[in-house]
Amino acid sequence: AIPKYVAPLAIPPVMPNLPSPEGPVDHYMIGVRQFQQQILPPGLPTTTVWGYGSVLHPRTFNTPACTVEATVDRPVRITWINELVDGDGRYRPHLLPVDPTLHWANPPGGPSKRDTRPRFASTPGRYRGPVPIVTHLHGGHSWDDSDGHPEAWFLPAARNISAGYAREGSLYSEFAHTFGIREGVRWAAGSAVYQYANDQRAATQWFHDHTLGITRLNVYAGLAGFYLLRGGPSDLPSGVLPGPAPRAGDAPTTRYHEIPILIQDKSFSAGGSLLYPDSRRLSDGFSGPYVPRSDVSPIWVPEFFGTTMTVNGRTWPDLHVEPRRYRFRFLNGCNSRFLDLKIASGPPAKSARTAALPFWQIGSDGGFLPSPVQLGGLLLAPAERADVIVDFTGIPAGTQLFLINEGPDGPYRGARSAPPANPATTGQVMRFTVGPLVDQDTSVPPSELRLPTLNRLGAARLTRRLALLEHSSAVVAGVGPIAALLGSSESRGSAKMWADPITENPATGSTEMWEFHNFTPDAHPMHVHEVQFEVVDRRPSNGLTQLPEPGERGFKDTVIAPPNAITRIKATFDRPGLFVWHCHVLEHEDNEMMRPYRIGA
Ligand code: C2O
Ligand code: CU
Repeated sequence: AIPKYVAPLAIPPVMPNLPSPEGPVDHYMIGVRQFQQQILPPGLPTTTVWGYGSVLHPRTFNTPACTVEATVDRPVRITWINELVDGDGRYRPHLLPVDPTLHWANPPGGPSKRDTRPRFASTPGRYRGPVPIVTHLHGGHSWDDSDGHPEAWFLPAARNISAGYAREGSLYSEFAHTFGIREGVRWAAGSAVYQYANDQRAATQWFHDHTLGITRLNVYAGLAGFYLLRGGPSDLPSGVLPGPAPRAGDAPTTRYHEIPILIQDKSFSAGGSLLYPDSRRLSDGFSGPYVPRSDVSPIWVPEFFGTTMTVNGRTWPDLHVEPRRYRFRFLNGCNSRFLDLKIASGPPAKSARTAALPFWQIGSDGGFLPSPVQLGGLLLAPAERADVIVDFTGIPAGTQLFLINEGPDGPYRGARSAPPANPATTGQVMRFTVGPLVDQDTSVPPSELRLPTLNRLGAARLTRRLALLEHSSAVVAGVGPIAALLGSSESRGSAKMWADPITENPATGSTEMWEFHNFTPDAHPMHVHEVQFEVVDRRPSNGLTQLPEPGERGFKDTVIAPPNAITRIKATFDRPGLFVWHCHVLEHEDNEMMRPYRIGA
């Protein structure tokens, strides 16, 4: 067993940027590398992971990444570099089993085309590399050529890949043609230069890999980090919020009271390596470490649920807090797991625990809520964020509090529809140990905070009825769904594949209502690129229409679509281009539960 609450919570420092000779733009050079990290407690083995870092500062490579601090209306330009090469400059293989029968990036060296042999009928061998990557800024109001389109992936500039291959393999020419190359946005073998306008409300965003068909593996290997957008009128509440957050050049003894919290479930071998199952059977009600059974495809699993909880890249950490207010930016970065968080006075019991301290939620995916909301529990689906104040004021030194998780060790179907996570493992997330107050808390009590006004969207001119579906087949009876899909709700049978022609094409500047009709037994976190939307309501097939939850009344980019219900959102599609919408259960996204969509002509 892995001992809990040994290592202190790691707080990601700020990602160093470059001196900017190109005018009012923050410029970064961020690589993706393979390295060892102490994710398990000290004394246990290190883990081979992938992570982002500034290529000029080798010590910044970490999972999660250092935080990109961005400013509203000040563009950020990032050169993303694929450095998944070994010491000889040869490309590395993937850390985890790749299933080449999924729709995926298919670089040279793998099957020359998408393997179209019937699923479960063929067993192509294990894919040995090179590894494609592409980064998406989740929550960003991005141009399409900087959005991290799943097919805009690129390979490392490796010695054993010819330059022509790397260009072809990265779809360089196809995407250059499709998107047109804007100034400042370029592709080259091994890297892509993206620019983010940051012309949107201040918000907790994050970046992660988005490569077609291997997003679940690349993110699980470590490719995720925070991108905090600050400044402007949307970032001006009536009073002081708890702080500071990390800044460039902080003294190592700085005490932070604004802390990003990235929660991810992972599994480890006894030797410390990351485990990811390679067949459905291993993900079903498993209770011990995974035993990889084979390395031949098809090895997709419908969902992944790990055996440990990590926070900011360490298992079950402990955070020393003062008796004062803290601002936590929670992010569910799990592949499949829905989190139902609570702050309890002890580790979870078999029965539900009452909250020892409330969460004061002040923001969601798209920035501040209309007003602070007091919550006993915090439900977060994969990719959702919650900006939260926790008030430890008056709590005696020596008190220990526990961030627990009462979400299930399996697909989410609604509150209390499944037993909560294993109280001994994934039912626990992190611990807070209260110490003495060091200096005065000048922040405003959350109940007295006034949050900046929200400009609501206009009326929707058009409604799209969209279906969430699963494909199963008698051929694979007992194995489960062979894909999770999206389609039009008019005919539940006519699911669309990733490669089918675009069916969602909002006019530039139009406001539309999108209805997610969920015909599957599970809830799916639906994410739409480019926009921040409003959650309108949920219409259960046998019940009353439900208004959005209090924590969903700001802007969102990811929304929980429960089973047997229609979930309605409204968005204004104001930036023309090619984007995607998809389920953020990464295993679903990787197997057809994603569709391209186009704004404008
Ligand atoms: Cu967080 Cu399309 O992704
Ligand atoms: Cu899904």
